[in-house]
Amino acid sequence: MARRIAVNTGGGDAPGLNAVIRAVAVSSHWRGWEVYGIRHGYRGLIEDDPGGIVRLDRNAVRGITHLGGTILGSTNRGDPFNYPQPNARGEIVPTDVSERLIERFKELGFEALVAIGGDGSIKLAKELLARGLPRVISVPKTIDNDLYGTDKTFGFDTAVATATDALDKVHTTAQSHERVMVVEVMGRYAGWIALYAGISGGADVILIPEIPFNMDRVCEKILRREARGRHFSIVVVAEGARPEGGQMIYKEGKGRFKEHGQLGGIAELVADWIQTRTGKETRSLVLGHLQRGGSPVMSDRLLALRMGCAATKFLHDNSENGMVAVQNDEMQFLPLNEATGAMRTVSLDSSVLRTGRDLGLCFGDEPPGSFHPSFPPPAPA
Ligand code: F6P
Repeated sequence: MARRIAVNTGGGDAPGLNAVIRAVAVSSHWRGWEVYGIRHGYRGLIEDDPGGIVRLDRNAVRGITHLGGTILGSTNRGDPFNYPQPNARGEIVPTDVSERLIERFKELGFEALVAIGGDGSIKLAKELLARGLPRVISVPKTIDNDLYGTDKTFGFDTAVATATDALDKVHTTAQSHERVMVVEVMGRYAGWIALYAGISGGADVILIPEIPFNMDRVCEKILRREARGRHFSIVVVAEGARPEGGQMIYKEGKGRFKEHGQLGGIAELVADWIQTRTGKETRSLVLGHLQRGGSPVMSDRLLALRMGCAATKFLHDNSENGMVAVQNDEMQFLPLNEATGAMRTVSLDSSVLRTGRDLGLCFGDEPPGSFHPSFPPPAPA
């Protein structure tokens, strides 16, 4: 009998998901396996919906490599251990439906799940395995690029390209109006998008969660530029950045817990502080979900296709549960107990961060070392 495997996409979407789905389907097809997609994370298995499971034959995945989003749909509210269900009184309450999910998975004859998702999906996969799901290969995805165990996640390059393009556009209007523009980018608790887009897009100040910032440093930088006749400045702020001694900013009314809260709003605060302290007219904008949309750039397509094919290969070659990773440009298989789902943040001695410092960018801190190009050279003796 042909092997039957299932694929799903969970958590926030990222450009490249469709390329992974296609790679899993096509590379399985050559091995004579049948592949099925579960719609919207685990929802297709949990709900009584005949369209919840779709066959992914070669035709179903034709021409999707370049498409953004996911043909399977996704959700970041689909935890089967806390799934919204009506109780006896008809109230919607978080309910553990994992048993029903696993039963259905087995009834459908699936041997393994290729779970394309982020840290949350890895944790769910481990719990489902512990409760009896037969096998899981996880394919890491997030535009935030913050997953431990893999050098990179697909979707990141596209998000950075979108943010860089936005910075190019913001530059021209900032210059025309001689304003400070503060641009908020995604990234959760890691500053990868802000750092890469900020440097590539010619920002003057980059604020990331890894370096709590001091507004005096930020304003000094803007005023130094002003004194040099540069009457505009671009500030890139990661949504998770926070001032020294301060807190990350969550959207009001959206919950303040890490798991439920939505980061957002720091750009507006930083813009207000800059305008008040420097007198410079300042505007802010939030790039938001634009960064998750659109067609994946070449490097994301390629990484996604490689990860999808690697997932099938690992399913074929061994019987372990694990996560696909790219390390030193090679596809690797990490046993699932080593794939912690932990976060990988920007290290303070990262070469890209050092490049930013060498270019004279301000990171809102006291730059390490005695000389820094963004500070005036020492007065001659
Ligand atoms: O993890 C990806 C991400 O886009 C983060 O950068 C952002 O904080 C979050 O998801 C937004 O999630 P949602 O789509 O639920 O608003």
